[in-house]
Amino acid sequence: MTKALSGVRILDFTHVQSGPTCTQLLAWFGADVVKVERPGMGDITRGQLRDKPNVDSLYFTMLNHNKRSITLDTKNPKGKEVLTELIKKCDVLVENFGPGVLDRMGFPWEKIQSINPKMIVASIKGFGPGPYEDCKVYENVAQCTGGSASTTGFRDGLPLVTGAQIGDSGTGLHLALGIVAALYQRTMTGRGQRVMAAMQDGVLNLARVKLRDQQRLAHGPLTEYSQYGEGIPFGDAVPRAGNDSGGGQPGRILKCKGWEKDPNAYIYFITQAPVWEKICDVIGEPGWKTHPDYAKPPARLPRLNEIFSRIEQWTMTMTKFEAMEILNKDDIPCGPILSMKELAEDQSLRATGTVVEVDHPERGKYLSVGNPIKMSDSPSEVTRSPLLGEHTDEILRQVLGFSDHQVAEIHDSGALDPPRKVAAE
Ligand code: COA
Repeated sequence: MTKALSGVRILDFTHVQSGPTCTQLLAWFGADVVKVERPGMGDITRGQLRDKPNVDSLYFTMLNHNKRSITLDTKNPKGKEVLTELIKKCDVLVENFGPGVLDRMGFPWEKIQSINPKMIVASIKGFGPGPYEDCKVYENVAQCTGGSASTTGFRDGLPLVTGAQIGDSGTGLHLALGIVAALYQRTMTGRGQRVMAAMQDGVLNLARVKLRDQQRLAHGPLTEYSQYGEGIPFGDAVPRAGNDSGGGQPGRILKCKGWEKDPNAYIYFITQAPVWEKICDVIGEPGWKTHPDYAKPPARLPRLNEIFSRIEQWTMTMTKFEAMEILNKDDIPCGPILSMKELAEDQSLRATGTVVEVDHPERGKYLSVGNPIKMSDSPSEVTRSPLLGEHTDEILRQVLGFSDHQVAEIHDSGALDPPRKVAAE
């Protein structure tokens, strides 16, 4: 079966997490992703956070499915020749090097365009043009500079970073969308273009509702934030709102049975206005349906702590799953706090391919997250990540059409050997 991106070849110059997330998605959509790695070491994540000695880490294997790996020293003259041929044969170059690396390698945009005017060059950087454009950036730096950390956590506590990798994987997703749009535009213009996603921008895009609240602050307090009901004045910037809902419907995380021992025995509970009467019945407060202090949403806003304490008295009498079952019957929005253990064991996620078991020749079986985007005409099969340089000769021959003699020459040139001088990690 052809896939959505069958026939598209990606020159994958990505490493660590942000870029690999992007190219992995493109691979799942059917693109042929050729990952170029430094000889001898490869993507630094191959060796990071290892759970087993001397095998590619889960960090690497879970971000590089469905790709082929070629090792190439792109600072070696012969390596540059091979890279030039790869640029001719690929549709998209994706990179998330530090600022200026591609230029220093001798492949600025103008040169790439002269080699292949149809090529799309897609980049992730920490920041867009401006005072920080030369900075190297990792996940938590992006969360802090994109508005997520300042708005995450409790009002009286430190700013917090989230477990979801919104800076890395989030920006990878943004870039993938830009690439697909550029490929579509190319079908009409015949031209490639540059696609750029900055991690700060990606995080700010995901924190969009907080910039909304920043502007609302000029017109009065944010009444759905707990601190409004607690009588605590607002400052001039959006505060951290704990587990308050980011939408117009108040919500909180509430204890369920077993919370004393189980750190995840909690449920998110939303007091959505249209189902308020059902909530009153479920928790055993039918009088609140008509009481002037509780009946209408504006009257409830200053009393959210009291209201959620009462609801929690109810949720604490049952497990998060029992509460979910009862609440769902009445369309009361809620969500149990699922641990990674529970998600890994969830059979419905296995059935949809969102959680998949993958076999790897060196590390054996492991769990991964499959393609979260499901397409009826382009289903994704998750295949294992490549070993370092596993496909070097195959790509030199099949993709670039080099003869045995030329391949031998490339081997002799040192272009496939580890570079003598290696940059600091
Ligand atoms: N052959 C030869 N040299 C290679 C090579 C290859 N195949 N692939 C990479 N290199 C070299 C580069 O040319 C560069 O050399 P230079 O600094 O002499 O020009 C060197 O490796 C290091 O590249 P760099 O990307 O700067 O890696 P780093 O480990 O120093 O920094 C990041 C890592 C992630 C901080 C940086 O790449 C970055 O800021 N990326 C953009 C933002 C981003 O994606 N961050 C999130 C990562 S999850």
